[in-house]
Amino acid sequence: MKLTQEQKDFVADLLSRMTLEEKIGQMNQESPSIVGGFDVPFSELIEMLTDGRLPQEEFEKIMSTAKQDFHEEDIRAGLVGSMMVKDPRENNRLQKIAMEESRLGIPLIIGFDVIHGFRSVFPIAIAEACSFDDELFEKTARMAAKESRAHGINWNFAPMIDAARDARWGRVSEGPGEDPCLGSRFARAKIRGLQNDRSSVKNYVAACTKHYVAYGACESGRDYNTTSMSVSNLYNIYLPAFRAAMEEGAATVMAAFNDLNGIPCTVNRWLLRDILKGEMGLEGFVVSDANAIRECVAHGIAENDRDAGVQAAQAGMDMDMGTHIYKDFLKAEVENGTMPMDVIDEAVRRILSVKVWLGLFDNPYVPEEDIEAYEKGLPTEHIALCRKAAEESMVLLKNEGNLLPLSRKQKISLVGNLADAADEICGAWAMAWKKEDCVSILSGLRSAGADVEYYPCGGPEGEINWDETDRACEAGDVIVAVVGETDAMSGEASSKADITLPGKQQALLTRLLSSGKPVVTVLMNGRPLALQWEAEHLPVILEAWHLGIRMGDAVAAALLGDINPSGKLSSSFPAVTGQCPVYYNHPSTGRPGSKSKFTSRYLDAPWDVLFPFGHGRSYTSFGCSDLQVSEAGDSLEVAVSLKNTGEREGTEVVQFYVQDVSASLVRPVKELKDYRRVSLAPGEEQEIRFTLPKTALGFYDNEGHYRLESGLFRIFAGGSSRDTLEAEIRLLF
Ligand code: NOJ
Repeated sequence: MKLTQEQKDFVADLLSRMTLEEKIGQMNQESPSIVGGFDVPFSELIEMLTDGRLPQEEFEKIMSTAKQDFHEEDIRAGLVGSMMVKDPRENNRLQKIAMEESRLGIPLIIGFDVIHGFRSVFPIAIAEACSFDDELFEKTARMAAKESRAHGINWNFAPMIDAARDARWGRVSEGPGEDPCLGSRFARAKIRGLQNDRSSVKNYVAACTKHYVAYGACESGRDYNTTSMSVSNLYNIYLPAFRAAMEEGAATVMAAFNDLNGIPCTVNRWLLRDILKGEMGLEGFVVSDANAIRECVAHGIAENDRDAGVQAAQAGMDMDMGTHIYKDFLKAEVENGTMPMDVIDEAVRRILSVKVWLGLFDNPYVPEEDIEAYEKGLPTEHIALCRKAAEESMVLLKNEGNLLPLSRKQKISLVGNLADAADEICGAWAMAWKKEDCVSILSGLRSAGADVEYYPCGGPEGEINWDETDRACEAGDVIVAVVGETDAMSGEASSKADITLPGKQQALLTRLLSSGKPVVTVLMNGRPLALQWEAEHLPVILEAWHLGIRMGDAVAAALLGDINPSGKLSSSFPAVTGQCPVYYNHPSTGRPGSKSKFTSRYLDAPWDVLFPFGHGRSYTSFGCSDLQVSEAGDSLEVAVSLKNTGEREGTEVVQFYVQDVSASLVRPVKELKDYRRVSLAPGEEQEIRFTLPKTALGFYDNEGHYRLESGLFRIFAGGSSRDTLEAEIRLLF
């Protein structure tokens, strides 16, 4: 995000004409409050619904009489800088109040959680990352930006780029997985897609990279829990995606809920002022997460709301999401001299700069014809991209006996509630999909011309209908079982202490297997699952995640061989839950896990992951050979030969890893440095070359300094983080 001098002058002039209240108003974000229809606060109502005191039907009855308060009076008085609304006409109405009825006519920045698409819902991020396709990452973000703008949303609370290494954490679904290299590439592409098409204000939004930082490292995988780590771990694993996003010009950042080494990110001056705004050069602003400023009281870091607000503002938190604490307390703090005016001015300058960069002063409204265009239905190219993204995001974990692909002549017994759950395919954080756009796996198979009979039998929750299961077993030539998680089982506040297949689905699979018929398992889930039993007993496992609105078309195409799966895992899958957190790029231990007793291992479970990062099969086979490593000036040149050794065209993701064999800090056993998707015809062979600047071979130490250390480096290349060729090179810096 770069402003011209003229735009900077505009911001400075506006700032000079604002009252203190108006300035603080810019730092205040509101969302519509629910009012009326009930006697208790809305938050308590939600609690009552969650703990079962209030039945769903009763809740819905209450909500039908409730109203939304859009804070029109405060907008008019210049006391609101941002709103969170998804309805385009409502957004136009609110913008009109801000533009025409407030003293200075400052537009609202309107934010919303457009995480993996708006109405065009793409795969959840952990799935999309499995495509290892930077171009796709960018395209889906670009489309999401366009759809957001057409709904009056100019600020997307995305990308979520938290490195996530603990599959118990429900929010692993929202981000690009466990690896900082893939995460950084994903972050860059998403920022480009959301922000860089400036040919029209209709085409870009401000990105909000989140959650800054180390939210994914919450202790025991429990959401919102405390996070502790060394400075080097923070810099090497959790900061790189944010650094990449800042280099790409991300306009805003959302701070994470958690504390990091004892200081909540919301009030963490070191993280916000020194690293983010200083070292990484954020030009736009930082917003808190919802209610997070108030939560500093619960954290025990502030005595009361006023104290929390002062600490947050001084630490560099520019905008308060949802608590009104800035609005309620900062004016008095400035007037009594405890809060320097500079702190307020800096925050407001940043917020206004983003609004100017977004073109909101000149184009605050969505034209009615743009709203109507979406009401008519999704454009075909949007649907096509949803399908392509879904096709590329699936990972074939296992295909024993080449059971897949199926032929259209085979009679399929399709089993599992999830197979026809069109309302479960979009996953967590999808809030604008429409039923008419969604294709379940059953509909996808039917429209692809498969001979399919459906037997729901059971799902992630509730009982199994055994009679129906037996009928499914008798009927088909092949059984396709769709099992996994509902969309509510991952995402925010959805951590799990047991990440095996939920409910009675393992028993269902056992019964299906006992029929002796071939069983193909399709997984639909939002996190890596612990699949030890499944990997041992099931011949075929296709990981299909929550793939978005065209999930059914994509899964059908993969099952029937109309496409060849090419996804690779963006997160390692553990064998058992107790291994979590588990990831491929772990620091070397003095006693690496092995069969011997006194090594880093478990007595009752494997020490290594079950399916590693980067793993994924194809209907064809690939072979890598002839790994060459050399120096060329300031670069490292890596070449490897890739051959399609099977009988179908296919796409392989060639991955290049490095190990710093000996360094002044313990380094990972392997770190991804680059990757490339390569499509080859049967028998075709290609030399794949990677060029890496040697400066990329360093690491951050515990003072946050980047170090390049001479010595031996091991180079790996292959089709997963586990199966690689190896070479060595000694480098001098
Ligand atoms: C809470 C979530 O942590 C964050 O990701 C989201 O953007 C905000 N709420 C706003 O809904």
